[in-house]
Amino acid sequence: MIDLKDITVTFDTPNGPVNAVKDVSVSIGAGEIYGVIGYSGAGKSTLVRTINMLQEPTQGSVIVNDKDLTEMPIQGLRQVRKKIGMIFQHFNLMNARTVAGNVAYPLKHSDLSRQEKEDKINSLLELVGLADKANAYPSQLSGGQKQRVAIARALANDPDILLCDEATSALDPKTTQSILELLKDVNQSLGLTVVIITHEMSVIKEICNRVAVMEDGHVIEEGTIFDIFSNPQAELTKNFIESASPIEKGIQKVLNHPELLNIGPNDRVLRISFAGASTGDPLISMLAERFAVRANILFGNVEILQNTPVGTLLISMEGEAGDVQKAIDFINGQGISAYEYDLEEYFQEGGKA
Ligand SMILES: Nc1ncnc2c1ncn2[C@@H]1O[C@H](COP(=O)(O)OP(=O)(O)OP(=O)(O)O)[C@@H](O)[C@H]1O
Ligand SMILES: [Mg+2]
Repeated sequence: MIDLKDITVTFDTPNGPVNAVKDVSVSIGAGEIYGVIGYSGAGKSTLVRTINMLQEPTQGSVIVNDKDLTEMPIQGLRQVRKKIGMIFQHFNLMNARTVAGNVAYPLKHSDLSRQEKEDKINSLLELVGLADKANAYPSQLSGGQKQRVAIARALANDPDILLCDEATSALDPKTTQSILELLKDVNQSLGLTVVIITHEMSVIKEICNRVAVMEDGHVIEEGTIFDIFSNPQAELTKNFIESASPIEKGIQKVLNHPELLNIGPNDRVLRISFAGASTGDPLISMLAERFAVRANILFGNVEILQNTPVGTLLISMEGEAGDVQKAIDFINGQGISAYEYDLEEYFQEGGKA
């Protein structure tokens, strides 16, 4: 649906060129909810604005629905843009117009009859849960309601794609949740492809299928929510994940008190992730049966990512060094994602060793 190929965006400023986006390639499938996460200035907005050519790339091509937008004359581009809706952090509503007037605005030049327009506006307001606010003005609405109006307006021309630039960043957590639910609804009921820019991993975790992590104009990591959360590579990605689900914080708390958990300096401690219906139980008992080791559970957590339970277990293993090594080789051979902590640093910091 969306194919960004080798996109570079350079701004000329009085202080010299700024490379906002550097050679980024991203493919987004029809019906996906795709996330772009990164800190301020990473290049998220600049990248996403190339999808509807609000930002022309300095280099690279923007393919939407098999058409290269960078080679399209402006007339054609206008038609394409109608099929790409966009919403923003600060809603960008017209304050002098009613809710219905705001939603009607993109239909100004449409071929619909007056009655058809009215029906369309009513059904859009129905869809976003604001049927009773048609005649209210934006100033009379809450932030969440304003964003609902913006969503209705963005959907007026039946777009295939909805771009959301920090659409929930000005909202409290509960309202954020309800807007994300609405985006999920329209994604499913209308088959809409949704691209979400955010700096909050909790937003990504809540609704995206895939995510690109941006830093300094580059996409440094990209993948399914499941892969990224269960096996992040880049330091920045790990930091973002930690902010959304502080598992590592819990693990560190445990490891900082080895004496309370009977962890010995010669034990080995692993963090293991499980996906789907599988859990740690069979593994732990299998280790005891097959190898002369004792595995103790130090910490456990379950999260739901894209309707799949993902479990994390922290286990310590006691036994002869050779036996423990065999057990660890076995775990790694099972294709289970396992990370080993270096216990030395915890014991140096005042543990029982
Ligand atoms: N029109 C412009 N002219 C010059 N520099 C720009 C322009 N737009 C963006 N930039 C610069 O490009 C870089 C990326 O900006 P961009 O707005 O894409 O970041 P962002 O990831 O969306 O950040 P934020 O989270 O703050 O919205 C920044 O260094 C910014 O200052
Ligand atoms: Mg931005």
